[in-house]
Amino acid sequence: MTVAAVVPAAGSGTRLGAGAPKAFVPLAGVPVVVRAVEGLLRSGAVDEVLVGVPEALVDQARLLFAGRPVTVLAGGAERTATVRLALELLAVHGGERAATPEGHADVVLVHDAARPLTPPALIASVVAAVRAGHPAVVPVLPVADTVKRVTPDGIVESTVDRSVLRAVQTPQGFAFATLWAAYAASDVDAAATDDAGLVERVGEKVHTVPGDPAAFKVTTPWDLHIAELLLEKA
Ligand code: CTP
Ligand code: MG
Repeated sequence: MTVAAVVPAAGSGTRLGAGAPKAFVPLAGVPVVVRAVEGLLRSGAVDEVLVGVPEALVDQARLLFAGRPVTVLAGGAERTATVRLALELLAVHGGERAATPEGHADVVLVHDAARPLTPPALIASVVAAVRAGHPAVVPVLPVADTVKRVTPDGIVESTVDRSVLRAVQTPQGFAFATLWAAYAASDVDAAATDDAGLVERVGEKVHTVPGDPAAFKVTTPWDLHIAELLLEKA
């Protein structure tokens, strides 16, 4: 069974506002995307990685990953477009790399470049759950804050029962055929903020495994600051 990981890293990082695409911002001296990819490889559960970056940074990314089992491609305008391009590359060129009769990896992970401190053990647990027979797997955490539904002008409508809510992280893991079918059934512009959302739309069951606070997404300057502090202490 071969496992490929797709790393969408083609976003602009508007909310971080660091003056460079988020994936290329240094975190304690190492670009965010390099930390995310090295975590995947360190898990021992991933055979190859496909990284989708902004078109202007393809050459720079190839240098960053020289000698590693990493393929760099130009990403798309939306996260889903970046993942779709990587899946197409896997399906077309997989035969040269992977050992399956279909010519592509059996298991595919999708992991945000923006989660540079994701523990390798979490990555391995997602792969293990897919290998155990779950075609779609997401890591989740309970929601700590009280959650309220509000109107556009900021008036509280109701309080949501948080005991049934979970915050969802990456990597998300899939049987290749399941994710492929989910993407085939949606438009490039489908407003999905994660990949399991597309799988849900085609009626497939999504399994959860416990997430890890360290897999948090670097979205704002505050998150980058926390990540720097965590690395200082490590
Ligand atoms: N991503 C991508 N292609 C896009 C948009 C996003 O590959 N067209 C990736 C980002 O690089 C990131 C992940 O999807 O690793 C999660 O997206 P997000 O945290 O929203 O990153 P950005 O879109 O870069 O940030 P922002 O929304 O603040 O601009
Ligand atoms: Mg974004």
